Amino acid sequence: MTEKEVLQAYQKYVVPSYRRTNLCLVKGEGAWVTDIQGKRYLDFFPGWAVSGIGHCHPRVVKAVTEQAKKAIHFSNNFLHPLQAQLAKELVRSSFPGKCFFANSGAEANEAAIKLARLAGHPDGRYQIISFTGSFHGRTLATLTMTGQRKVQKGFSPLPSGFRKAKFNDLESVKKVLGPRTAAICIEPIQGEGGVNPARPGFLKNLRQLCNQNGILLIFDEVQTGMGRTGKLFAFQRYQVTPDAMTLAKTLGGGVPIGAIIIAEKYADILSPGAHASTFGGGPLVCAAALAALEAIKKEKLLENAVRMGAYLQERLRKISPLVKEVRGIGLMLGVELKIPAAKITEEAQKNGLLVNCTQHNVLRVMPPLTLTRDEADLGLSILKQCLS
Ligand SMILES: Cc1ncc(COP(=O)(O)O)c(C=O)c1O
Repeated sequence: MTEKEVLQAYQKYVVPSYRRTNLCLVKGEGAWVTDIQGKRYLDFFPGWAVSGIGHCHPRVVKAVTEQAKKAIHFSNNFLHPLQAQLAKELVRSSFPGKCFFANSGAEANEAAIKLARLAGHPDGRYQIISFTGSFHGRTLATLTMTGQRKVQKGFSPLPSGFRKAKFNDLESVKKVLGPRTAAICIEPIQGEGGVNPARPGFLKNLRQLCNQNGILLIFDEVQTGMGRTGKLFAFQRYQVTPDAMTLAKTLGGGVPIGAIIIAEKYADILSPGAHASTFGGGPLVCAAALAALEAIKKEKLLENAVRMGAYLQERLRKISPLVKEVRGIGLMLGVELKIPAAKITEEAQKNGLLVNCTQHNVLRVMPPLTLTRDEADLGLSILKQCLS
């Protein structure tokens, strides 16, 4: 297909539910993607953070290629070694408990919602408290849990049982917490909300509040998990352990997989018949996720995220007088501008850099954890040019 034919086919045959840029990509390698014309772009937002260890990481490519020749999918009525191994690795790298595998972030969060409801059921607890500015997915329940009205518009009546509190404001949590509360769900760093890190004391206080009330603390680490903050999971940076944690994005090294890790106390609540996913945790995606995890650990990508994150933060602060604030941890950075950020992302793309805009005036910079100093410098120089 030519670029024009691709565009026409999208217009005619693909549901227009995404705001798309007319950039037709055909290849990805590390921090780089190539369009249909052969032009290369440095990718500071690889696949919405799915290709978090870079596009087509050689370990993932090898694992997927080899696994595809053996078995692509088995049903969850049977056992296979790769799901067992991945669950063991994830639990041993996080906190004692068990894993359930889904296919996306929203699905992992659906599992978290169902877990909270089942756990609270004997005491009549079903409400989940989430936060203003949060994002948890696009299914009906997860968009209801999301703290942004724009994703809920037109979908009423929304499911009941969700309450909102203000992010980083303990008093507002206490106001909505009651005898019906089953869980509190929070992103340790809000991503779509504009890269807003939780204050360390806030998460500690939430942990305390959940303990006092016998309810679950759920961390949505779909975006922050798998090394983004320079620790494998953001909860380790904050030193606050949740009762359940959801993962997706970088987890599969590019393939669709989501997961929830559930602490021992609650790990057997999702009993046979309570929850399932036909595709969840098949051999192909588990092989990819194991390879991605191996890459993060063996190639010291956490250390690189800390180093390159600090490097980028420092330079982004001084890059232009149009920068109001730079926030974030590790390689999850938000650059709040004094002007709309969409113009800058357009300009950056013309100049060979892909970067995301969120909340109108925030540039979301989430390059792959493999980012080199040269790539960082190139991205910074393009951004500087666009901002001048
Ligand atoms: C924190 C968070 N949770 C959940 C989701 C939903 O994930 P998915 O699009 O894989 O369903 C996202 C997606 O951006 C996210 O950032």
